[in-house]
Amino acid sequence: MTTHTLVDQLSQTTRDAQAQMAAAHDAQALEAWRVEFLGRRGRLSQLMQQLGALSPEERRTAGAEANRVKALLEGLLAQGQRALSERDAAGKLTSDRIDVTLPGRPVALGRLHPVTQTVREICAAFAGMGFDIAEGPEVEWERYNFDSLNIPRDHPARDMWDTLWIDWTDPTPQGRRMLLRTHTSPMQARIMEQAKPPVRVIVPGKVFRHEATDARHEWHFYQVEGLAVDTGITFADLKGTLYEFARRIFGPDRRVRFRCDYFPFVEPGVDMSIDCFLCKGQGCRLCGDGWIEIMGAGMVHPNVLKGVGYDPEVYTGFAFGMGPERIAMLKHGIDDIRHFYANDVRFLRQF
Ligand code: DAH
Repeated sequence: MTTHTLVDQLSQTTRDAQAQMAAAHDAQALEAWRVEFLGRRGRLSQLMQQLGALSPEERRTAGAEANRVKALLEGLLAQGQRALSERDAAGKLTSDRIDVTLPGRPVALGRLHPVTQTVREICAAFAGMGFDIAEGPEVEWERYNFDSLNIPRDHPARDMWDTLWIDWTDPTPQGRRMLLRTHTSPMQARIMEQAKPPVRVIVPGKVFRHEATDARHEWHFYQVEGLAVDTGITFADLKGTLYEFARRIFGPDRRVRFRCDYFPFVEPGVDMSIDCFLCKGQGCRLCGDGWIEIMGAGMVHPNVLKGVGYDPEVYTGFAFGMGPERIAMLKHGIDDIRHFYANDVRFLRQF
Protein backbone atom coordinates (compact mmCIF):
# COMPACT_ATOMS: atom_id res chain seq x y z
CA MET A 1 0.00 0.00 0.00
CA THR A 2 1.38 3.36 -0.97
CA THR A 3 0.34 6.87 -0.04
CA HIS A 4 -0.90 7.25 -3.53
CA THR A 5 -3.36 4.37 -3.45
CA LEU A 6 -4.51 5.21 0.06
CA VAL A 7 -5.20 8.83 -0.92
CA ASP A 8 -6.97 7.59 -4.04
CA GLN A 9 -9.13 5.32 -1.95
CA LEU A 10 -9.94 8.16 0.37
CA SER A 11 -11.13 10.29 -2.57
CA GLN A 12 -13.14 7.40 -3.93
CA THR A 13 -14.72 6.96 -0.50
CA THR A 14 -15.54 10.66 -0.41
CA ARG A 15 -17.22 10.54 -3.83
CA ASP A 16 -19.23 7.43 -2.89
CA ALA A 17 -20.23 9.04 0.38
CA GLN A 18 -21.42 12.18 -1.36
CA ALA A 19 -23.41 10.27 -3.95
CA GLN A 20 -25.09 8.01 -1.40
CA MET A 21 -25.85 10.88 0.88
CA ALA A 22 -27.65 12.65 -1.95
CA ALA A 23 -29.87 9.57 -2.27
CA ALA A 24 -30.51 9.08 1.49
CA HIS A 25 -34.01 10.39 2.10
CA ASP A 26 -35.01 8.87 5.39
CA ALA A 27 -33.63 8.07 8.81
CA GLN A 28 -32.98 4.45 7.90
CA ALA A 29 -30.88 5.34 4.84
CA LEU A 30 -29.00 7.92 6.88
CA GLU A 31 -28.13 5.35 9.53
CA ALA A 32 -27.00 2.85 6.87
CA TRP A 33 -24.80 5.58 5.42
CA ARG A 34 -23.29 6.33 8.82
CA VAL A 35 -22.48 2.65 9.45
CA GLU A 36 -20.94 2.23 6.00
CA PHE A 37 -18.72 5.30 6.05
CA LEU A 38 -18.17 6.38 9.64
CA GLY A 39 -18.96 3.19 11.57
CA ARG A 40 -16.34 1.49 13.73
CA ARG A 41 -15.78 -1.03 10.96
CA GLY A 42 -16.78 1.36 8.23
CA ARG A 43 -14.83 2.30 5.14
CA LEU A 44 -13.02 5.24 6.67
CA SER A 45 -11.83 3.39 9.72
CA GLN A 46 -10.62 0.50 7.53
CA LEU A 47 -8.57 2.93 5.48
CA MET A 48 -7.20 4.58 8.59
CA GLN A 49 -6.02 1.23 9.88
CA GLN A 50 -3.81 1.03 6.81
CA LEU A 51 -1.94 4.19 7.84
CA GLY A 52 0.18 2.08 10.18
CA ALA A 53 1.75 0.26 7.26
CA LEU A 54 3.13 3.50 5.76
CA SER A 55 6.47 5.14 6.40
CA PRO A 56 6.32 8.09 8.83
CA GLU A 57 6.71 10.53 5.98
CA GLU A 58 3.88 9.01 3.96
CA ARG A 59 1.79 8.59 7.04
CA ARG A 60 1.84 12.33 7.67
CA THR A 61 0.45 13.20 4.23
CA ALA A 62 -2.04 10.37 4.06
CA GLY A 63 -3.03 10.88 7.71
CA ALA A 64 -3.76 14.54 7.11
CA GLU A 65 -5.86 13.58 4.11
CA ALA A 66 -7.70 10.92 6.13
CA ASN A 67 -8.49 13.46 8.85
CA ARG A 68 -9.76 15.93 6.27
CA VAL A 69 -12.04 13.22 4.78
CA LYS A 70 -13.25 12.27 8.25
CA ALA A 71 -14.22 15.86 9.00
CA LEU A 72 -15.87 16.12 5.62
CA LEU A 73 -17.89 12.94 6.17
CA GLU A 74 -18.97 14.06 9.64
CA GLY A 75 -20.06 17.34 8.14
CA LEU A 76 -22.05 15.52 5.49
CA LEU A 77 -23.75 13.39 8.11
CA ALA A 78 -24.66 16.38 10.25
CA GLN A 79 -26.03 18.18 7.23
CA GLY A 80 -28.05 15.11 6.20
CA GLN A 81 -29.50 14.83 9.69
CA ARG A 82 -30.44 18.47 9.78
CA ALA A 83 -32.11 18.25 6.37
CA LEU A 84 -34.03 15.20 7.49
CA SER A 85 -35.36 16.78 10.65
CA GLU A 86 -36.35 19.89 8.73
CA ARG A 87 -38.26 17.73 6.26
CA ASP A 88 -39.96 15.93 9.18
CA ALA A 89 -41.02 19.18 10.77
CA ALA A 90 -42.33 20.57 7.50
CA GLY A 91 -44.26 17.35 6.89
CA LYS A 92 -45.79 17.57 10.37
CA LEU A 93 -46.81 21.14 9.76
CA THR A 94 -48.69 20.16 6.62
CA SER A 95 -50.27 17.02 7.97
CA ASP A 96 -51.31 18.68 11.25
CA ARG A 97 -52.62 21.80 9.62
CA ILE A 98 -56.13 22.74 10.77
CA ASP A 99 -58.45 23.96 8.09
CA VAL A 100 -60.32 26.64 9.97
CA THR A 101 -62.79 27.01 7.12
CA LEU A 102 -64.23 23.50 7.70
CA PRO A 103 -67.58 23.44 9.49
CA GLY A 104 -67.37 22.38 13.15
CA ARG A 105 -68.30 18.85 14.16
CA PRO A 106 -71.70 18.94 15.85
CA VAL A 107 -71.75 17.79 19.48
CA ALA A 108 -74.49 15.22 20.02
CA LEU A 109 -76.89 16.77 22.48
CA GLY A 110 -78.73 14.71 25.06
CA ARG A 111 -82.38 15.37 25.74
CA LEU A 112 -85.00 14.63 28.32
CA HIS A 113 -86.96 11.42 28.01
CA PRO A 114 -90.48 12.09 26.67
CA VAL A 115 -92.01 10.80 29.91
CA THR A 116 -89.77 13.11 31.95
CA GLN A 117 -90.83 15.99 29.75
CA THR A 118 -94.50 15.14 30.27
CA VAL A 119 -94.13 14.69 34.04
CA ARG A 120 -92.48 18.10 34.20
CA GLU A 121 -95.22 19.69 32.12
CA ILE A 122 -97.89 18.22 34.38
CA CYS A 123 -96.07 19.35 37.52
CA ALA A 124 -95.57 22.84 36.07
CA ALA A 125 -99.29 23.12 35.29
CA PHE A 126 -100.20 22.35 38.91
CA ALA A 127 -97.32 24.34 40.41
CA GLY A 128 -98.82 27.30 38.57
CA MET A 129 -102.04 26.69 40.49
CA GLY A 130 -100.29 26.71 43.87
CA PHE A 131 -99.51 23.01 44.39
CA ASP A 132 -96.28 21.82 46.05
CA ILE A 133 -94.35 18.90 44.61
CA ALA A 134 -93.32 15.90 46.74
CA GLU A 135 -91.76 12.53 46.05
CA GLY A 136 -91.96 9.30 48.01
CA PRO A 137 -90.46 5.82 48.28
CA GLU A 138 -90.90 3.26 45.51
CA VAL A 139 -90.54 0.42 47.99
CA GLU A 140 -93.53 0.95 50.24
CA TRP A 141 -95.31 -0.50 53.24
CA GLU A 142 -98.52 -2.39 52.59
CA ARG A 143 -100.10 -0.06 55.14
CA TYR A 144 -99.57 3.06 53.01
CA ASN A 145 -100.18 1.41 49.65
CA PHE A 146 -103.47 -0.19 50.77
CA ASP A 147 -104.72 0.06 54.38
CA SER A 148 -104.37 3.82 54.75
CA LEU A 149 -106.27 4.16 51.46
CA ASN A 150 -109.32 2.37 52.78
CA ILE A 151 -108.33 -0.93 51.18
CA PRO A 152 -108.09 -3.41 54.05
CA ARG A 153 -106.35 -6.75 53.77
CA ASP A 154 -108.52 -9.31 51.94
CA HIS A 155 -110.73 -6.59 50.50
CA PRO A 156 -111.54 -7.50 46.90
CA ALA A 157 -110.60 -3.97 45.81
CA ARG A 158 -106.97 -5.07 46.16
CA ASP A 159 -107.46 -6.99 42.94
CA MET A 160 -107.41 -3.64 41.15
CA TRP A 161 -103.66 -3.59 41.70
CA ASP A 162 -101.59 -6.66 40.82
CA THR A 163 -98.85 -6.32 43.34
CA LEU A 164 -95.13 -7.10 43.34
CA TRP A 165 -94.33 -8.06 46.93
CA ILE A 166 -90.88 -7.74 48.49
CA ASP A 167 -89.47 -11.01 49.74
CA TRP A 168 -88.95 -9.92 53.34
CA THR A 169 -90.22 -11.16 56.68
CA ASP A 170 -90.91 -8.69 59.43
CA PRO A 171 -89.04 -9.83 62.56
CA THR A 172 -91.55 -7.94 64.74
CA PRO A 173 -94.97 -9.37 65.71
CA GLN A 174 -96.71 -6.75 63.54
CA GLY A 175 -96.10 -8.82 60.43
CA ARG A 176 -95.69 -5.79 58.21
CA ARG A 177 -95.33 -6.43 54.50
CA MET A 178 -93.34 -4.51 51.91
CA LEU A 179 -94.11 -4.07 48.24
CA LEU A 180 -93.27 -2.04 45.19
CA ARG A 181 -95.89 0.69 45.29
CA THR A 182 -98.66 -0.01 42.79
CA HIS A 183 -99.65 3.66 42.62
CA THR A 184 -98.53 7.03 43.96
CA SER A 185 -101.61 7.28 46.21
CA PRO A 186 -99.74 6.00 49.32
CA MET A 187 -98.10 9.43 49.43
CA GLN A 188 -101.51 10.88 50.36
CA ALA A 189 -101.31 9.37 53.84
CA ARG A 190 -97.58 10.01 54.20
CA ILE A 191 -98.07 13.71 53.44
CA MET A 192 -101.14 14.18 55.64
CA GLU A 193 -99.40 12.44 58.56
CA GLN A 194 -96.61 15.00 58.32
CA ALA A 195 -98.62 18.17 57.68
CA LYS A 196 -101.66 20.03 58.88
CA PRO A 197 -104.21 21.31 56.35
CA PRO A 198 -104.26 23.13 54.03
CA VAL A 199 -102.54 20.57 51.83
CA ARG A 200 -102.03 21.08 48.11
CA VAL A 201 -99.49 18.71 46.65
CA ILE A 202 -98.51 16.90 43.48
CA VAL A 203 -96.59 13.61 43.64
CA PRO A 204 -94.84 12.39 40.50
CA GLY A 205 -93.17 8.98 40.65
CA LYS A 206 -92.62 5.47 39.44
CA VAL A 207 -95.07 2.66 40.15
CA PHE A 208 -94.98 -1.09 39.56
CA ARG A 209 -97.52 -3.77 38.67
CA HIS A 210 -97.30 -7.52 38.45
CA GLU A 211 -98.72 -7.47 34.98
CA ALA A 212 -98.12 -8.84 31.50
CA THR A 213 -97.10 -6.11 29.07
CA ASP A 214 -98.94 -5.17 25.91
CA ALA A 215 -99.47 -2.02 23.86
CA ARG A 216 -101.39 -0.40 26.73
CA HIS A 217 -99.73 -1.94 29.79
CA GLU A 218 -96.24 -1.78 31.21
CA TRP A 219 -95.15 -3.51 34.42
CA HIS A 220 -93.58 -0.25 35.56
CA PHE A 221 -94.66 3.24 34.63
CA TYR A 222 -95.18 6.68 36.08
CA GLN A 223 -98.07 8.32 37.86
CA VAL A 224 -98.76 11.82 38.99
CA GLU A 225 -100.90 12.01 42.10
CA GLY A 226 -102.64 15.11 43.36
CA LEU A 227 -104.15 15.96 46.74
CA ALA A 228 -105.88 19.05 48.08
CA VAL A 229 -107.34 19.11 51.59
CA ASP A 230 -108.70 22.10 53.45
CA THR A 231 -111.89 23.37 55.03
CA GLY A 232 -114.69 23.89 52.55
CA ILE A 233 -113.23 22.07 49.52
CA THR A 234 -116.03 20.81 47.30
CA PHE A 235 -116.46 18.78 44.16
CA ALA A 236 -116.64 22.07 42.26
CA ASP A 237 -113.01 22.74 43.27
CA LEU A 238 -112.02 19.34 41.90
CA LYS A 239 -113.77 20.05 38.61
CA GLY A 240 -112.40 23.55 38.27
CA THR A 241 -108.82 22.52 39.05
CA LEU A 242 -108.78 19.55 36.69
CA TYR A 243 -110.53 21.50 33.96
CA GLU A 244 -107.86 24.17 34.17
CA PHE A 245 -105.18 21.48 34.09
CA ALA A 246 -106.66 19.93 30.93
CA ARG A 247 -106.66 23.30 29.21
CA ARG A 248 -103.05 23.96 30.18
CA ILE A 249 -101.85 20.59 28.87
CA PHE A 250 -104.16 19.91 25.93
CA GLY A 251 -105.12 23.36 24.71
CA PRO A 252 -107.49 26.19 25.64
CA ASP A 253 -110.69 24.88 24.02
CA ARG A 254 -110.71 21.52 25.79
CA ARG A 255 -113.99 20.34 27.29
CA VAL A 256 -113.99 17.82 30.12
CA ARG A 257 -116.39 15.10 31.20
CA PHE A 258 -116.68 13.43 34.58
CA ARG A 259 -118.27 10.02 35.05
CA CYS A 260 -118.80 7.95 38.16
CA ASP A 261 -116.02 5.48 38.88
CA TYR A 262 -114.93 3.48 41.89
CA PHE A 263 -111.73 3.89 43.84
CA PRO A 264 -111.80 2.83 47.51
CA PHE A 265 -110.06 6.00 48.73
CA VAL A 266 -112.52 8.52 47.26
CA GLU A 267 -116.24 9.08 47.55
CA PRO A 268 -117.65 9.97 45.16
CA GLY A 269 -115.07 8.65 42.71
CA VAL A 270 -114.92 9.71 39.09
CA ASP A 271 -112.91 9.37 35.97
CA MET A 272 -112.21 12.41 33.88
CA SER A 273 -112.16 12.54 30.10
CA ILE A 274 -111.30 15.35 27.73
CA ASP A 275 -112.90 15.89 24.36
CA CYS A 276 -110.67 14.48 21.66
CA PHE A 277 -108.24 17.14 20.47
CA LEU A 278 -107.81 15.34 17.13
CA CYS A 279 -111.44 15.17 16.00
CA LYS A 280 -112.75 17.83 18.39
CA GLY A 281 -115.16 15.33 19.91
CA GLN A 282 -116.60 13.99 16.63
CA GLY A 283 -115.26 10.47 17.17
CA CYS A 284 -112.15 9.08 15.48
CA ARG A 285 -109.55 6.32 15.51
CA LEU A 286 -107.77 7.85 18.53
CA CYS A 287 -110.77 8.35 20.80
CA GLY A 288 -113.59 6.17 19.50
CA ASP A 289 -116.57 8.14 20.81
CA GLY A 290 -115.03 11.61 20.97
CA TRP A 291 -113.87 11.36 24.62
CA ILE A 292 -110.48 10.36 26.01
CA GLU A 293 -110.16 9.22 29.61
CA ILE A 294 -107.10 10.75 31.26
CA MET A 295 -107.37 10.22 35.02
CA GLY A 296 -109.15 8.96 38.10
CA ALA A 297 -110.23 11.37 40.82
CA GLY A 298 -112.68 11.97 43.62
CA MET A 299 -113.40 13.47 47.00
CA VAL A 300 -111.05 12.06 49.65
CA HIS A 301 -112.87 9.30 51.57
CA PRO A 302 -113.63 10.16 55.22
CA ASN A 303 -111.86 6.96 56.30
CA VAL A 304 -108.64 8.16 54.67
CA LEU A 305 -108.88 11.49 56.51
CA LYS A 306 -109.65 9.76 59.81
CA GLY A 307 -106.72 7.40 59.32
CA VAL A 308 -104.24 10.29 59.36
CA GLY A 309 -105.95 12.12 62.21
CA TYR A 310 -107.85 14.72 60.15
CA ASP A 311 -111.43 15.32 61.29
CA PRO A 312 -113.67 14.63 58.25
CA GLU A 313 -116.35 16.85 59.79
CA VAL A 314 -113.94 19.80 59.47
CA TYR A 315 -111.84 18.97 56.46
CA THR A 316 -112.65 17.82 52.95
CA GLY A 317 -110.49 17.36 49.94
CA PHE A 318 -110.06 15.96 46.49
CA ALA A 319 -107.48 13.62 45.02
CA PHE A 320 -106.59 12.52 41.54
CA GLY A 321 -104.10 10.29 39.76
CA MET A 322 -103.00 10.09 36.15
CA GLY A 323 -100.50 8.25 33.95
CA PRO A 324 -98.03 10.54 32.17
CA GLU A 325 -97.21 7.83 29.61
CA ARG A 326 -100.83 7.84 28.55
CA ILE A 327 -100.82 11.61 28.32
CA ALA A 328 -97.57 11.59 26.31
CA MET A 329 -99.07 8.94 24.00
CA LEU A 330 -102.11 11.10 23.41
CA LYS A 331 -100.10 14.26 22.85
CA HIS A 332 -97.59 12.70 20.45
CA GLY A 333 -99.73 10.02 18.80
CA ILE A 334 -97.67 7.10 20.20
CA ASP A 335 -99.51 3.81 19.81
CA ASP A 336 -97.56 1.48 22.13
CA ILE A 337 -96.55 2.24 25.72
CA ARG A 338 -93.62 -0.20 25.45
CA HIS A 339 -91.76 2.23 23.18
CA PHE A 340 -90.98 4.41 26.19
CA TYR A 341 -88.79 1.85 27.92
CA ALA A 342 -87.38 -0.06 24.93
CA ASN A 343 -84.45 2.41 24.87
CA ASP A 344 -84.45 2.66 21.11
CA VAL A 345 -82.79 6.00 20.37
CA ARG A 346 -84.60 6.24 17.03
CA PHE A 347 -87.79 6.58 19.07
CA LEU A 348 -86.34 8.74 21.83
CA ARG A 349 -84.65 11.23 19.48
CA GLN A 350 -88.04 12.32 18.15
CA PHE A 351 -88.92 14.24 21.30
N1 DAH B 1 -104.32 5.34 42.37
C1 DAH B 1 -105.24 5.10 41.28
C2 DAH B 1 -104.69 4.03 40.37
O1 DAH B 1 -103.55 3.76 40.41
C3 DAH B 1 -105.49 6.38 40.51
C4 DAH B 1 -106.33 7.34 41.31
C5 DAH B 1 -107.69 7.34 41.18
C6 DAH B 1 -105.71 8.18 42.19
C7 DAH B 1 -108.48 8.20 41.91
C8 DAH B 1 -106.49 9.08 42.94
C9 DAH B 1 -107.88 9.08 42.79
O2 DAH B 1 -105.95 9.92 43.80
O3 DAH B 1 -108.62 9.93 43.51
O4 DAH B 1 -105.43 3.45 39.63
